[in-house]
Amino acid sequence: MNTRSLGPNAPYVSVVGLGGMPLSIQGRPAIDAGVRVIHASLDAGMTLLDTADVYCLDDNDIGHNERLIAQALREWPGERDSIVVATKGGLTRPEGRWDRNGHPEHLRRACEKSLQALAVGRIDLYQLHAPDPEVPLEESVGTLADLRQEGKIRWIGLSNVSVAEIKQAESIVPIVTVQNRLSPFFREALRTGVVEYCAQRGIGFLAYSPVGGGRLNKKLPTHPVVAEIAQRHGTSTHSVVLAWVLHQGESVIIIPAARTIEHTVDSASSATLELSHEELAAIDAAEFSIA
Ligand SMILES: NC(=O)c1ccc[n+]([C@@H]2O[C@H](COP(=O)([O-])OP(=O)(O)OC[C@H]3O[C@@H](n4cnc5c(N)ncnc54)[C@H](OP(=O)(O)O)[C@@H]3O)[C@@H](O)[C@H]2O)c1
Repeated sequence: MNTRSLGPNAPYVSVVGLGGMPLSIQGRPAIDAGVRVIHASLDAGMTLLDTADVYCLDDNDIGHNERLIAQALREWPGERDSIVVATKGGLTRPEGRWDRNGHPEHLRRACEKSLQALAVGRIDLYQLHAPDPEVPLEESVGTLADLRQEGKIRWIGLSNVSVAEIKQAESIVPIVTVQNRLSPFFREALRTGVVEYCAQRGIGFLAYSPVGGGRLNKKLPTHPVVAEIAQRHGTSTHSVVLAWVLHQGESVIIIPAARTIEHTVDSASSATLELSHEELAAIDAAEFSIA
């Protein structure tokens, strides 16, 4: 699969990586089915797996997705060292809610647990899941810098951040990736300049929920503009949208999720789907209702 730089002083990774969340939250498949989806993604050429400690049912289940990925990699006959695993810390799941916790003690504990769940001595990419409004960003990022210094993290990433927050974090430690939402339904990463800033700095922009997330992606097959383009190319509406997201910046990498082999193989195919200027412009101009 074609590749892009993950970020400054980091390797190239496949332009399509697997987002692990739905394999571990409510509605998740059985473990062996989840492992098969991960294997199919790797076999399709993906070299980036995105996970988080909180991809699980609740606080009693922390690390579910990390353990799933560790198992899948153990059982995969390919070259483990060619795969980048990106995890995150900074959220919790009390009673299944998604809460923020960017306190240094929490991030340290979370990182230790992720090391265990992933069964590694050092995490490839560790991302602050989201800034915590109750903790100064420099304290959360400073903790990640310390963990990196201690050899527990290789590269540091941020998620759900503004350009100002990226700059603030960069004044503390090199930032390799930024993971924000980007799809035709949600374009704030374009409007606020985050995608452009990442391109300027060579920071990998990991586009999350690239087909709109669990609910909105179901609207794509009947979207008039996307369906027409998909038909012309003999491909799926999802892959057309993924190709559009990939086109939004030279450092964009997409991390679509999947709970089936068919879906992840289809997503992988978007890496080579060429859309014309007219087709890209038609999607730019189209309305994507989030109702
Ligand atoms: N940093 C953050 O705060 C944050 C937030 C949300 C997500 N993420 C990350 O981004 C990843 C992706 O986001 P997401 O899970 O919200 O949504 P998504 O990638 O937009 O996908 C949502 C659903 O769309 C379906 N789908 C995707 N590609 C498809 C294809 N080619 N053909 C048919 N169906 C397809 C899949 O359904 P099925 O499951 O039925 O196969 C998938 O679960 C997550 O897994 C997670 O790793 C990060």
